[in-house]
Amino acid sequence: MVYDFDTVIDRLPTSSSKWSYRKQRTGVEDVIPMWVADMDFACAPEIVEAIKARAAHPIYGYTVRTDAWYNGLINWMKKRHDWSRIQRDWICFSPGVVAGFNMTIQAYSHPGDKVILQPPVYYPMKNAIFNNGRQMVENPLKIVNGRYVMDYEDLEKKIDGRTKMIILCSPHNPVGRVWTRSELEQLVEVCERKDIVIVSDEIHLDLILGKIKHTPTAIVSEKAMQKTVTLVAPSKSFNVAGLTNSAAIIPNKKLRDAFLNVLQNNSVGGGNIFGAVAQEAAYAHGEPWLEELLVYLRGNLKYFEDFLAEKIPVLKVYPLEGTYLAWVDCTSLGMDDASLKEFMLKKAKLWFDEGTMFGNGGSMFMRINIACPRSMLKMALERLEKAVKAL
Ligand SMILES: Cc1ncc(COP(=O)(O)O)c(C=O)c1O
Repeated sequence: MVYDFDTVIDRLPTSSSKWSYRKQRTGVEDVIPMWVADMDFACAPEIVEAIKARAAHPIYGYTVRTDAWYNGLINWMKKRHDWSRIQRDWICFSPGVVAGFNMTIQAYSHPGDKVILQPPVYYPMKNAIFNNGRQMVENPLKIVNGRYVMDYEDLEKKIDGRTKMIILCSPHNPVGRVWTRSELEQLVEVCERKDIVIVSDEIHLDLILGKIKHTPTAIVSEKAMQKTVTLVAPSKSFNVAGLTNSAAIIPNKKLRDAFLNVLQNNSVGGGNIFGAVAQEAAYAHGEPWLEELLVYLRGNLKYFEDFLAEKIPVLKVYPLEGTYLAWVDCTSLGMDDASLKEFMLKKAKLWFDEGTMFGNGGSMFMRINIACPRSMLKMALERLEKAVKAL
């Protein structure tokens, strides 16, 4: 490998929320934090160099996005995700994907309207719906033959005159599914017929660990293109989440204008200089790093799965097709959710995201972030094994 993913880097001096909040949020100083979705790897040196070069110029005033920012994203989507012909004016800046889906709720619905989610799902989506005074409607994922799938019949039934949109998570956090083209086609068919907007959160699009290729929802048909708002960012793929930079790709002019209106009303159009520089460098020069990252993450996943199967078979991990967040069923430990959380923090000294945070279907699960040096993953798994065996 050209790039180094093995070195353990001390993040404590960097105000990292993953590491610095340990005592404050969990009460346990020495937990290994494997919760929030960022990686304990140095980001691509090409990005670091670009940021250093920009930082060397001492004026950090308001900024605009460059041709390189737009073209980098357009080329990246074409090259890696088969989305050709994205037009530059379809791309709207957003300071983050969470900010992005909050703004789509403001743009495409009114207070009291209904927004659909597919739980268990990334919890800020639920918060966005409630914080904006909308109603959440759940279209829970089903488990069929040990794999999560969408329930289209239930979706169809749940859509009524007050339902304005669905927020899709693709790839899906936390269940780790990469939706196939055919699954997305079926979803689009229902949403198109029932006339609701699809907001497709594709922040994990580059983090594909299994055999299914990521398909942007918008490209499955011309109808999908006109109904979908695609939220993307380099933040998960390149570990630059702290630089707050993302994009909404909105081919439909009416939907785009409504989004831009909200963006303007919230005065969030400017953005962070270093976020923009990081995106340009990532999409222009970061691909070799990303390829090696994926090899390393697949290695971590195999290590994780083998370890559980051999040493802690009471824990069941779902197939992780995409993202670096393993979804682990802890039901067989025979606890309730409160005691499971307590057990992980106090006995195993591990900080995971509890399944209940992700809503319906999350009870007795833990979401485990495996994007760390293998030695750290090994130490965490050994702690887990010891704690389970002491039960
Ligand atoms: C599905 C999903 N969307 C959005 C985000 C966060 O996006 P941002 O940091 O750009 O607001 C995350 C982070 O974990 C995520 O998993």
